[in-house]
Amino acid sequence: MSPEMSPAALAALHARAIAVPRPWTAAEFADLLGARGVFLIADPAGRGFALGRVAGPEAELLTLVVAPEARRQGIARDLLGRFAAAARAQSATAGFLEVAASNGAARALYAAAGWRETGRRRGYYATPAGAAEDAVVMAHDPL
Ligand SMILES: CC(C)(COP(=O)(O)OP(=O)(O)OC[C@H]1O[C@@H](n2cnc3c(N)ncnc32)[C@H](O)[C@@H]1OP(=O)(O)O)[C@@H](O)C(=O)NCCC(=O)NCCS
Repeated sequence: MSPEMSPAALAALHARAIAVPRPWTAAEFADLLGARGVFLIADPAGRGFALGRVAGPEAELLTLVVAPEARRQGIARDLLGRFAAAARAQSATAGFLEVAASNGAARALYAAAGWRETGRRRGYYATPAGAAEDAVVMAHDPL
C-alpha cells in the first residue's frame, strides 16, 4: 500500500470525485488492496490515485480519480502512465478498462494515451438516478 494514502483517504477522495449510488467504503478499499495482483498508484500529494490489478498477461485499470479542484493539470495522465509502467514491470502485456459511455473526460484521457475502444457492455453501470448506462471497454495492447 502507498504510505501516502490510507484506505480512508482513498474512499473519501473516490466519493468526492465520482457520483455513484453507493460509494466504495474504506473497508472495501482495504480489502481490494489486499487482493491478489492489486496495486495502488497514488499522486504524491494525495490529489488522485489509480487502482490496478494484474492477472497473468492482463492488467485491468479498476479505477482512476483526481480531486475536482486538481483537474486538467496532467495528474491523471501521469497516474495512467505509472499504472502502465507498473503493470509492465509485473509482466502484463495488455491493459483493459471499462468507462461509462457518458464520461467524455475519461474517454478523452484514455484515447489521448493510446487506449482504443474494443467493445460495449450494455447497462453495465447504475447511475445515481437509478438508471442503467453502457460501459465502453477499452484496451491498450500491447501495453
Ligand atoms: C477523468 C479524470 C480522471 C481526468 O483527470 P485529470 O487529472 O483532470 O486529467 P489530465 O489533466 O491528466 O488530462 C489529460 C488529458 O485527458 C483529456 N481530458 C481530461 N479531462 C478532460 C475533459 N474534462 N474534457 C476533455 N478532455 C479531457 C485531455 O486530453 C487532457 O489533456 P489536456 O489537458 O492537455 O487537454 C477526472 O476528470 C476525474 O477524476 N473524473 C471523475 C472520475 C472518473 O471519471 N474516472 C475515470 C473513470 S473510473
